[in-house]
Amino acid sequence: MPRLEIAPLHPVIGARVAGVDLSAPIDEPTRETLSRALADHLALVFPGQSLTPAQYLAAASVFGPPMEQHYSQHNMPDFPMIGLIWHRNGQRPAEMWHTDHTNRERPPAATLLYGVEIPPAGGGTSVASMRAAYTALGEDERRRLDASTTFNALDRHHTDTRQEDRDKYDRPIEHPMVRTHPVHGSRAVYFHITKATHIDGMTPDASRAYMVDLIERMMQPEIVYHHAWQKGDVLVIDNRATMHRAHGDYDRSQSRVLWRIIVEGDRPRLV
Ligand SMILES: [Fe+2]
Repeated sequence: MPRLEIAPLHPVIGARVAGVDLSAPIDEPTRETLSRALADHLALVFPGQSLTPAQYLAAASVFGPPMEQHYSQHNMPDFPMIGLIWHRNGQRPAEMWHTDHTNRERPPAATLLYGVEIPPAGGGTSVASMRAAYTALGEDERRRLDASTTFNALDRHHTDTRQEDRDKYDRPIEHPMVRTHPVHGSRAVYFHITKATHIDGMTPDASRAYMVDLIERMMQPEIVYHHAWQKGDVLVIDNRATMHRAHGDYDRSQSRVLWRIIVEGDRPRLV
């Protein structure tokens, strides 16, 4: 067996994991090491993987049980727990900074993306440490955010959402704007700018303006890891303490296909 190696990719966020074949069963000590590494590094890259959908689902369970995704029109027909990120089925790249599925009472702990078809240039994914962003804010603003909550629902700008998904997942869910990481114990800024209908006590317009401004101030290069995809990469993102975004800067005549799995997490809370 090759040795497990975890090497940081960036001073603040991201690590490359070598010596793990995600298509094979993963033993308990390795599972624990990887869960801890995700909490510490917030983004893990497993290069050179070759996975069937069933193998990918089994590997994802290292980080938690796979959970249902709410834009079910994009799920893989035979493996509905895997979502297809693919512009040719009508999706646009999610270019705004966000964390996934905040309209759930218990949003996903992690999102896994597997690079199946990768364009020759562009189309990367950026991941930012909201743990580092929180630390960099002034004390007054940290206190303001500590006391704030958002209400979350499905994205209003998605017009092709199925009625069955609306019925299940479009109820207002309240989350703290700062959450404590259940494994790491540190605090991170937490919100989804297009799923948050408003911040408690503020109008939707004022909430949106504040979140836009906050994102602009937080997203400094020193807290961002940019992943330039290679076919076969698996990128695991810790949704509890990061935001991520896609880059639409690639030629749309080229194919870009990522398989997405989200895994169960706990209810966000600030302690
Ligand atoms: Fe996302």
